[in-house]
Amino acid sequence: MSLTDVVEHLICPVCADGVELTGRALRCRRGHAFDVARQGYVSLLVGSRAPGTADSAAMVAARETFLGAGHFAPLAEAVAAACPAGARVVADAGAGTGYYLAEVLDRRPEAVGIALDVSKHAIRRAARAHSRLGAVVADVWRPLPVGDGKADVLVNVFAPRNGPEFARVLADGGTLIVVTPTRRHLHPLVEELGLLSVDEAKERRVAESLGGRFVEAERSLHEFTVSLGHEAVAAVVGMGPSAWHTDPGAMPTKIAKLPKTSEVAASFRMSIFHRRL
Ligand SMILES: C[S@@+](CC[C@H](N)C(=O)[O-])C[C@H]1O[C@@H](n2cnc3c(N)ncnc32)[C@H](O)[C@@H]1O
Ligand SMILES: [Zn+2]
Repeated sequence: MSLTDVVEHLICPVCADGVELTGRALRCRRGHAFDVARQGYVSLLVGSRAPGTADSAAMVAARETFLGAGHFAPLAEAVAAACPAGARVVADAGAGTGYYLAEVLDRRPEAVGIALDVSKHAIRRAARAHSRLGAVVADVWRPLPVGDGKADVLVNVFAPRNGPEFARVLADGGTLIVVTPTRRHLHPLVEELGLLSVDEAKERRVAESLGGRFVEAERSLHEFTVSLGHEAVAAVVGMGPSAWHTDPGAMPTKIAKLPKTSEVAASFRMSIFHRRL
């Protein structure tokens, strides 16, 4: 179980002390204890309910199907390539199924990974994504259960950001890799199926959300075309924001009317930030 590899970097979500793995639980010195689930992940969520933004079981299943088919593999390679060679601890905030983090760990045999996501459905899968990956249920909007300066790299792909916390957990000179979709992402499916589109202010908000704690060192555009059959289209719709808002009954009918395969744009922006010293 790979929580063993990362436990020294985790902290108690109640008192922020370090934690140890004893038996089947993570414990701090003050006696706060968090059970390790049978599937090998731990929930360090405390207090009230998880936010409503957690991916559902169905969304996570759709995401695993879609990413597992390799449609976004060029993006995963780009994220892994952006990870500095000497990195020892790589955290992923909003890691989903752990797909991108696993790719990073494949390329960096000396590194361990911490997958953080508020969806236990996602984290359950992330726990299986790589042998050097520890999977933790945590809310990005709350203090992260990671010690100060413990992460050399923080990955954030299509997920919420918390500038102050990202800055706290990153080591001096650490790297933050943020991937966001551009307006062209999933064109022409967005128009054909009436999916939610990315709003144009998003790009500006990425830098703003990091609140002056980071310097953007590099920005790159990653675009390629994916050929999607009806099942893959259903998966990409089911894993995205439209899954929250569109009428699920109507979608299969719309998808059935598409040509057998659709040529769809995958379009992402990747920004590399360094923490200000
Ligand atoms: C669009 S998915 C991206 C997942 C993964 N990075 C990927 O690209 O495959 C967004 C993820 O953010 C997670 N999420 C949403 N709100 C969150 C929060 N407040 N804290 C942590 N994770 C959150 C969701 O559960 C979901 O797994
Ligand atoms: Zn504690």
